[in-house]
Amino acid sequence: DSKPVQVKLVLLGEAAVGKSSLVLRLVNNDFQENKEPTIGAAFLTHKCQVEDKTVKFEIWDTAGQERFHSLAPMYYRNAQAAIVVYDITRRSSLDKAKSWVKELQHQANPNIVIAFVGNKLDLVQNSDVENSADSNDEASENYNQEDNSTRQVSTNEAMAYSKNAELVFFETSAKNNINIIETFYEIGIFIFIK
Ligand code: GTP
Ligand code: MG
Repeated sequence: DSKPVQVKLVLLGEAAVGKSSLVLRLVNNDFQENKEPTIGAAFLTHKCQVEDKTVKFEIWDTAGQERFHSLAPMYYRNAQAAIVVYDITRRSSLDKAKSWVKELQHQANPNIVIAFVGNKLDLVQNSDVENSADSNDEASENYNQEDNSTRQVSTNEAMAYSKNAELVFFETSAKNNINIIETFYEIGIFIFIK
């Protein structure tokens, strides 16, 4: 068993998109319906096996409220990876996520691996969502585009944006534990293998 490789990772995104909930699911396999907003930032670690490597993610879960925006550079500076989160049921959060990507591309480490993650998939969920949303999933056309009206960001739009900007892309649910470990795994693959 090899020594873990440390990867500094930052989570960014509008308030209440579910950043802390994604980390809580990953680290504690727990979910809270009324999670309190993060103040400043929270630090957590999680080990994950990526092929033959043990990766220790050092996770900075930042606060999405606008008054904390100016703190973000402290957390993305030197980060090797970022997860930029939006809420698929809230259009404004997509615009905010794109502005975070732009900021990272201009201000962060030029080699940073960025994942673009649309959370709260459970709110539009129906039978065929689980096998979707992988960035290189040729079956994405099979993804149901007509799920209920709470969805405000289509999978195709976010996937096309991510492909163009060379981001890892997933739709996730912290509530139902969908595609969270996959997001971290894919980030590990991009850092160490691709
Ligand atoms: P800030 O810390 O303020 O930036 O917010 P955050 O992005 O960390 O969001 P947080 O994890 O606190 O979640 C906000 C609310 O959304 C909470 O009430 C969560 O229970 C809820 N939530 C988070 N993830 C999901 C999800 O996947 N599905 C559903 N249905 N609700 C979720
Ligand atoms: Mg939070």
